Amino acid sequence: MDNSAEIQNSSTKGVFINTYGCQMNVNDTERMFSLLEMLNYQSVPSPEQASLIIINSCSVREKPVHKVHSEVGRYRLLKEKNPALRIGVAGCVAQQEKKRLLKDIPVLDFVFGPDNIDQLPEIVGDLYKSEDSLMKAKFQHGEGYHVETMIRNPGVSTFVNITKGCDNFCSFCVVPFTRGRERSRPLTELIKDIQSLTKRGVREVTLLGQNVNSYKSDCGTNFGGLLRAVAEDTDVERIRYTTSHPKDFDQELVDISQQYRSKICDYIHLPVQSGNSEVLERMNRGYSREEYLDKVRMIKDTIPGVALSTDIIVGFPGETREQYEDTASLLEEVKYESIYAFKYSPRPFTKAARWPDQITDEEKSDRLNRLFELQKRISGELSQKYLGQVKEVLVENFDEKKGNNNGRTTENKLTHFPGRKDLVGQLIKVKITKALPTILHGEII
Ligand code: SAH
Ligand code: SF4
Ligand code: F3S
Repeated sequence: MDNSAEIQNSSTKGVFINTYGCQMNVNDTERMFSLLEMLNYQSVPSPEQASLIIINSCSVREKPVHKVHSEVGRYRLLKEKNPALRIGVAGCVAQQEKKRLLKDIPVLDFVFGPDNIDQLPEIVGDLYKSEDSLMKAKFQHGEGYHVETMIRNPGVSTFVNITKGCDNFCSFCVVPFTRGRERSRPLTELIKDIQSLTKRGVREVTLLGQNVNSYKSDCGTNFGGLLRAVAEDTDVERIRYTTSHPKDFDQELVDISQQYRSKICDYIHLPVQSGNSEVLERMNRGYSREEYLDKVRMIKDTIPGVALSTDIIVGFPGETREQYEDTASLLEEVKYESIYAFKYSPRPFTKAARWPDQITDEEKSDRLNRLFELQKRISGELSQKYLGQVKEVLVENFDEKKGNNNGRTTENKLTHFPGRKDLVGQLIKVKITKALPTILHGEII
């Protein structure tokens, strides 16, 4: 549908935001839309219809600055046609590059970092007062972290930020430089926030942070305490969290997950990055292969049937073939339901980017492909255990064309089944009739 005429005829203006990267950026984009709505901006589906364009960028892997340059380049013609158009870059590339972006891309009007989103109304106001470009990328380190979740139309399942930033400085990772120091939201504010989301129809929350299990409220409550409070003091029916760091994963957390298992999902994303202790040491991850495997054992013993997933980097500087094989053997040993694996990519400011023993791209691609092949087999084998089982699925949507509902089991397995629109938002019992590596098919019982 072309609604540009409608937008031009009304007093509202169109904003187009292109979002890259992690769920934090997705939440940040929602926050930007909510703030801009107050200034009469309305989201439009294409840049051609917009009077304001924002690229919410990610810097975690491969050529992010280059991507920003080429995307802004595509908007140059639009600006020639419409000089009132304003173009900005937000997110982690903005924080990383700051003024340099404005210098290198003259058509750009503004740049602002993840800690400056709440200043967006002021930034946009200033944009129309003068022709000067604007840059706001100062971390709010001295201040507490107070953000109410701003989501225009929360679905059944929603992400809630509990911490921002990261203090871990893994030697490959740019995030501590783009998101600043770690800060936690106060417990009481979080509980109120989650409760008000449940009043808007949210039934599942995913608590979000770079390292959720180092959460610490100003009242002293740790992550386990937060999980308990969300389970006991809110009406939310399912609780997930991501990402937890293996070094901070302890028995208390597993015990709480087991105790509140009716609400806390049987799914833990526990990024290992490498299966070799020497590589882990150089990554500054704070655990060895053996310590990681001990934690996996602790989790599996306490929560039988729990599903695990992980993140992996192949071709970290100096990673030998033998060390890579340790990662492959770790996959065989742990048996993750799914993995997110990446080729190492040197990032600015990080230690590992300066090391001389970088691996060739060809070798990295080969290691990555072999890992995916291996995981495909493991995921396929693990998936078979669901066949014939009756699983509770939280229904997230309905595909009118196919007549199918889609949702997730507690193990985070995507499940499709023939259903109805009115089932969206409900917890439904589904018998699994077909189990593929990444998706289950079933029927309502
Ligand atoms: N805080 C999370 C990860 C955030 S970044 C954690 O500690 O697990 C998401 C994933 O991107 C990381 O787990 C890592 O696997 C990958 N990643 C980060 N930096 C990378 C780099 N320089 N090259 C390749 N992958 C990287
Ligand atoms: Fe990056 Fe490590 Fe922090 Fe995760 S824990 S965001 S990988 S520095
Ligand atoms: Fe990317 Fe920044 Fe997230 S680098 S992964 S958008 S924290």
